[in-house]
Amino acid sequence: MNKNHLWWQTGVVYQIYPRSYADTTASGMGDLRGIIEKLDYLSNTLGVDAIWLSPFYPSPMKDFGYDVADYCDVDPRFGTLADFDELLEESHQRGMQIIIDWVPNHSSDQHEWFIESRSSRDNPKRDWYVWRDPKFDEDGNRPPPNNWQSLFGGIAWEWDEATEQYYLHSFVKEQPDLNWRNPELKAAMFGTLRFWLDKGVDGFRVDVAHFIMKDPALRDNPPVKVEGEAFHRSHGRAYDSQIHIHDQGHPDLHPIYKEMRQMLDEYSATSPRVSVGEIHVFDFEKLVEFYGTPADGLEFHLPFNFSLLKMPWEAQAFREEVDAYEAALPAWATPTFVLGNHDEGRIATRYGEMQSRVAAMLLLTLRGTPTVYYGEELGMTDVIVPPEKRLDPYGLSVPENGRDRCRTPMQWNTTQNAGLSDADPDELWLPIAENAAEKNVAAEVDDPQSHLALYRELLKTRKASNALRFGAYRSLDSGSPDVYLYERKTADETMLIALNFSDQPQLLPEIHGKVLLSTHLDQTVPGKLRPHEGLLLKKA
Ligand code: GLC
Repeated sequence: MNKNHLWWQTGVVYQIYPRSYADTTASGMGDLRGIIEKLDYLSNTLGVDAIWLSPFYPSPMKDFGYDVADYCDVDPRFGTLADFDELLEESHQRGMQIIIDWVPNHSSDQHEWFIESRSSRDNPKRDWYVWRDPKFDEDGNRPPPNNWQSLFGGIAWEWDEATEQYYLHSFVKEQPDLNWRNPELKAAMFGTLRFWLDKGVDGFRVDVAHFIMKDPALRDNPPVKVEGEAFHRSHGRAYDSQIHIHDQGHPDLHPIYKEMRQMLDEYSATSPRVSVGEIHVFDFEKLVEFYGTPADGLEFHLPFNFSLLKMPWEAQAFREEVDAYEAALPAWATPTFVLGNHDEGRIATRYGEMQSRVAAMLLLTLRGTPTVYYGEELGMTDVIVPPEKRLDPYGLSVPENGRDRCRTPMQWNTTQNAGLSDADPDELWLPIAENAAEKNVAAEVDDPQSHLALYRELLKTRKASNALRFGAYRSLDSGSPDVYLYERKTADETMLIALNFSDQPQLLPEIHGKVLLSTHLDQTVPGKLRPHEGLLLKKA
């Protein structure tokens, strides 16, 4: 590898939702040892460079692990710390890095810190969370301190009868928000990072990184205006009736991430460590601030850009969005575009089956560090989970946003439970997709035109090409509004990527070069794109 490019600038990350990957205990949900068993699949069959593990910490699972009861341990349902060490070691032996999820905005209400904090008003950890008096109105009622709402529904404040104060929870009430303005809390949380860095973990994906600092005066969020009128509840849920300027994204969060970066840089002296930020900010100027600057201090290596998820499946929309982001980025910054994860619908369901192949080519040929969500390499689709089996707290309050649909078991083969688990099918934590008999690793691995074959080819081609790994990006006029055309270029190599977003064939005689790959995985010619076809060409 070029010495000037580090793994996190050129590699491909694969996200595993541990509950759904591989179960070695017949519990009906996956575990760390299951992931160890699949490392050869990840490194040899697929060929990814790093793995991001969604939370495996001890947790009451009110938000499926994003409610952490101990930041420095493994939930017994997933295994032990020794299993984690083995997973890390085995991954490193295969040249794959491990990124773990770190959830700084909130803990579980079962974390010992919160148990202490809520025990009395003068407990030394009281201020580690956000506690406030009610407002008290004239009638003796005690309304919450302000109008903030929980993203998962309802108000963001929970009344504590024993100590007669409210605590803040931006997500479910069992996820109390930590108070990052308290120096002891900050030191304790940084200690949890060191715990994993000392073990040799290669990086962190920082959960809702833009939430950790709020307006210190806890001012009300202003209302959204809809077409000049005040937002009315009938327009949607209360959360969406507010402009979220005071309950998230406060500029005081930046010094925290600068400090975190200094710690990562210190550890990077032995091997490069990385921070990936989950940041739902769509104003590019503001999003780019999360990179920090070399002059004032760097912050995230890779702030996720979620903006493509909001785009309609249209060539021009995607082109404009990518171009705008590329223009907003400082020259040294590595982008990371997101097309899917454990919070979003599956790509094949959102865009369509053929379109999802074009999306794969897009994801793996844009500049920067892509993340492939487990199962996307098979073309897995959303599963409509029947109401009585729904688990996701978000989905319980807002059914159309239920995330169970994209968290169903990985489809390995056609044995019981698609090879996830030996448990009784009724014991599976979520049901298996109906199309698992066709869409699974065993069926696809030998099919030269399968989805898996496409991902393997894309990953292989990318690995062999400096232009794709770190070349510059520039979009070009394709001659058709339905074709997104761009080049990736280094001094000695130019790749062209032509993506047909439509169901119509496109004749583009201007496109020349050697076709390295079609999303149809068959012989083809430059300049002719079939419906929903993407071509990767090397310029002579
Ligand atoms: C992030 C996670 C999501 C979780 C939420 C609260 O958005 O990706 O799964 O529910 O944070 O931690």
